[in-house]
Amino acid sequence: MDVAGKIAFVTGGASGIGLGIARVLVANGARVVLADIRQDHLDEAGGWFVDHGHGCEVHTIRLDVTDRAGWAAAADETEALLGPVDILIANAGVGLEGPLDEASYADWDFGLGVNLGGVVNGLQTFLPRMRARGKGGHIVNTASLAGMVTMPSTHAIYATGKAAVIALSESIRDGLAAHGIGVSVLCPGPIKSNIHEAAQNRPERFREGSGFGESEARLGRRQVSELWMEPDEVGEMVLDAIRANKLYVITHGEWRDAVIARHDAILEATPTTSNPALIASLMAPD
Ligand SMILES: NC(=O)c1ccc[n+]([C@@H]2O[C@H](COP(=O)([O-])OP(=O)(O)OC[C@H]3O[C@@H](n4cnc5c(N)ncnc54)[C@H](O)[C@@H]3O)[C@@H](O)[C@H]2O)c1
Repeated sequence: MDVAGKIAFVTGGASGIGLGIARVLVANGARVVLADIRQDHLDEAGGWFVDHGHGCEVHTIRLDVTDRAGWAAAADETEALLGPVDILIANAGVGLEGPLDEASYADWDFGLGVNLGGVVNGLQTFLPRMRARGKGGHIVNTASLAGMVTMPSTHAIYATGKAAVIALSESIRDGLAAHGIGVSVLCPGPIKSNIHEAAQNRPERFREGSGFGESEARLGRRQVSELWMEPDEVGEMVLDAIRANKLYVITHGEWRDAVIARHDAILEATPTTSNPALIASLMAPD
């Protein structure tokens, strides 16, 4: 689908990758809602669009993607102000890492709540509205290369959420095609962003009992490298995927060998024998 004249809802849209995607969508004629938990990010990003003559095409909404009532309110506000959403970019995420043996329920609930739950909440909010409208649309879910390769245990929570977002995106594609709704999953490598600010993005209810305080403080001191990709370059890749309804958007080739190694190991462990009758036995009758 083309994006000109369309309405896009971008979570985590006020910084980094989400903002890069929003800039590219606006430059190509879309109107965009930036939905983000951070008011400082929203103010800065909204100001950027005003300064660049696109204030009328962009609306900002404060939203914590783990807040389901907040999602419904944000969808209603978007429809009232801009119209129905054609493109959902479920991108908000947090760069959670820390020693596995110090991970608490607060850390698991925070990491999976935002990185996976935020995507689920977006789908549950917008898919019924898109389907009821009957005009198709497109969903882009942001996962990570961390969901495609085997990660160290310090990244277990992050990798778990991101691998689930990939599986979710793959599995809904078929069913949504019948409604003219395309699905893409974005798997970035290192991109210039504020992802190291995980501690500042942790809602109050996920703070008590966290075992990742030290790791989050260390991550917060990490410097963005000039070698990392510009968010707008990712935005261009996402635009291309929306237009051509491409499933996978993978930004970097540096982890190709790791992707191959993981898939080779899976193939190696998969028996070559197959009984078609067994597969048929799993089908429920109509
Ligand atoms: N930057 C990278 O190198 C990289 C690599 C792979 C995947 N990713 C993924 O890309 C996505 C965007 O991250 P980024 O790198 O642009 O980071 P970022 O921190 O610059 O942007 C993320 C935005 O999401 C917002 N956010 C965080 N928690 C939220 C919540 N609960 N509700 C609503 N908004 C929330 C933040 O305020 C921020 O504005 C994330 O899903 C991240 O996991 C990033």
